[in-house]
Amino acid sequence: MTNILFVCLGNICRSPMAEAVMLRLVKQAGLESEIRIDSAGIIAYHQGEMPDSRMRAHAARRGYHLTHRSRPVRTEDFYRFDLIVGMDDRNIDDLRERAPSPEEWAKIRRMTEYCTRHADTHVPDPYYGGAEGFEHVIDLLEDACAGLLREIKPAFNIFMT
Ligand code: 4NP
Repeated sequence: MTNILFVCLGNICRSPMAEAVMLRLVKQAGLESEIRIDSAGIIAYHQGEMPDSRMRAHAARRGYHLTHRSRPVRTEDFYRFDLIVGMDDRNIDDLRERAPSPEEWAKIRRMTEYCTRHADTHVPDPYYGGAEGFEHVIDLLEDACAGLLREIKPAFNIFMT
């Protein structure tokens, strides 16, 4: 089992969207029992809330249904997850500050490092912007999640066929 946690600031836009994109790819690959996905936020401000209505609307246009409820990152997440994937510099700095030991620190990744079709260095916060920002977030996340799955998939292929 590989456990992946996507992290953004509020856990109402980018990381729940990443979770939905990755879940679809994992299901398409028949790996639901091998890869577990969750998302969390650096701040607890939106705890318990559904994803932002604008993010849900843009997601729906591509057939994604966002059901996650916002929650903050907890110390136990660093032990429970194998990969902890932040969206931008600030998320990554905050995660590194919270990592309980060097072993957990080493699990922290940057979402855009898995992109193969975009040269962006971070997934920008769409919260205070317009519609294009939300579309760009989904474009980046679809690219990055496909790259992430390609990277971890060989580990499962050994056991499948
Ligand atoms: P997210 O977007 O980090 O992609 O979920 C944001 C959501 C809320 C806030 C900032 C970013 N906020 O400041 O409340």
